Amino acid sequence: MADVYFLLEYPIYRDFEPEDIDILSKICEELKFKKNEIIFKEGTPGDALFIIKKGIIKVYKETKTRKKLITILSAGEFFGEMALIDGSPRSATVVAGENVEVVKLSTENFNKLKSDYTKTALKVYGALLKFMSYRIRRTTKKAASLLKGRKKRRKK
Ligand code: CMP
Repeated sequence: MADVYFLLEYPIYRDFEPEDIDILSKICEELKFKKNEIIFKEGTPGDALFIIKKGIIKVYKETKTRKKLITILSAGEFFGEMALIDGSPRSATVVAGENVEVVKLSTENFNKLKSDYTKTALKVYGALLKFMSYRIRRTTKKAASLLKGRKKRRKK
């Protein structure tokens, strides 16, 4: 059980009606993490997605020698959706950037949502797709500016 009414504060969830929120409240659970606590590690199996209720989380890619910050996500945003959607291991490590509160939707309950509450599940998919489109746009911008920088350096 989780209080997910906070979602209605964010335009991305504007299609959600009180009955969708009630359904999600029943199948989600609330968790808290302390600043710098690891929420999950890259390469581990993914069994849930999360929505940030309060605070920020940091997404890192790790090599043997370095830990690179990929992005920071804040309240209202999803994380951990990729492993849940494609069944691959976690693509990055996620750490609490400050004391955070998150809502967890397990794979098992996500499957239940799809079979028993299709309309609500479609709305969740809609929100996920919007976030993923936004992230691809941001990554494209970053890649373009990196390529531009590389071309400039080559010309010198
Ligand atoms: P998942 O692969 O399950 O676990 C790591 C999570 O970090 C991933 O899902 C996304 O939610 C998030 N993530 C990974 N790469 C990016 C990125 N480039 N931009 C935003 N979030 C990301």
